[in-house]
Amino acid sequence: LTGLRETVDFPLGVAIDSRETAGGPSQLLLRHFNQVTAENHMKPESWYNAERAFTPHEQAGAIMRFAQENDLAVYGHVLVWHSQTPAWFFQNEAGQPLTNSPADQQVMRDRLRAHVFAIAEHLSDTYGPFGSDTNPLNAWDVVNEVVADTGDFADGLRRSNWYNILGEQYIDLAFQYADEAFNEVYAAEGVARPVKLFINDYNTEQAGKRGRYLSLVERLLARGVPVDGVGHQFHVNLTMPVSALDAALAAFEDMPVTQAVTEFDVPTGTPVSQALRIEQGYYFRDAFNIFREYTDDLFAVTVWGLVDGRSWRSSSGAPLVFDDALRAKPAYYGAVGGQDLP
Ligand code: G3I
Repeated sequence: LTGLRETVDFPLGVAIDSRETAGGPSQLLLRHFNQVTAENHMKPESWYNAERAFTPHEQAGAIMRFAQENDLAVYGHVLVWHSQTPAWFFQNEAGQPLTNSPADQQVMRDRLRAHVFAIAEHLSDTYGPFGSDTNPLNAWDVVNEVVADTGDFADGLRRSNWYNILGEQYIDLAFQYADEAFNEVYAAEGVARPVKLFINDYNTEQAGKRGRYLSLVERLLARGVPVDGVGHQFHVNLTMPVSALDAALAAFEDMPVTQAVTEFDVPTGTPVSQALRIEQGYYFRDAFNIFREYTDDLFAVTVWGLVDGRSWRSSSGAPLVFDDALRAKPAYYGAVGGQDLP
């Protein structure tokens, strides 16, 4: 089989945990992909033990070493998120919720900075400075899912703990701290911006969410916040016209940012039939052909899992490119260009 990665001119990523770093799955991965994202093990809560000490997860290490040994890039996911973050992040020493008082805001800013710097220090100590030959990390989702799902708020931002304590500035600060840590303090000498800094969100294929996302990115860039890229998760399904993916990418095309498809999957609905698998094949064909049209604007495209059974959406119907026996599905034949689809 042609490696899927050989059919595109942008890096092709896949979300994994350590199960995909050995045996048959690792062989399939290396044939078709050249970048990986940790599906869960680089999220905020993964870096700390129950005593609140910074304790890198074994699975994050397994993924970094696998990438290092096999010349894959690592797309970091995620520094700041409202979900999968320890509760104590948002509490004071007495266990009370932090408020938006100036003193509590300073606690929150210090915690954010310490979090970002601890990750950067650990990853550079262990794998070498960012941008050096031994360190595979090339990007981070700096903030994830910060945009509101509805049009209820003038600023269009999700009312998360981060927002409620710091307001919109938490987004600026996250990028500024990440830039300082990953692109200055712990970067190889003479390498410009080795780690690209992304904002990432879902439903950007839908006009309302996209409009709020666009306004936020415009505000951030106008304030000089170091945003390198805009991520589109693209957790879609067969009823979402592929033209909506085109519209999402087109909306940011003329902005001074790169883009990434960060979490692509397309469940068929259930029960999964051969007809639906073929329809899904055509969906992957059309989607990948759109992605190819944006090659110059795309930092990478990532599929959110290697085989169907490992997908967070497997109960919605076989969302990925390969089945549990590691066989290529019609989705694969579509993604590579559609030649062998019925
Ligand atoms: O590891 C534990 C296991 O020990 C336990 O027995 C089991 C029981 O529920 O849970 C396991 O943890 C689960 C973890 O996935 C690993 O499988 C969590 O419950 C489950 O919540 C977690 O789900 C992840 C989800 O993020 C959490 O928000 C999905 O795998 C992951 O695909 C998903 O990824 C997110 C992106 O980060 C952001 N965008 C949306 C995307 C889909 O929700």
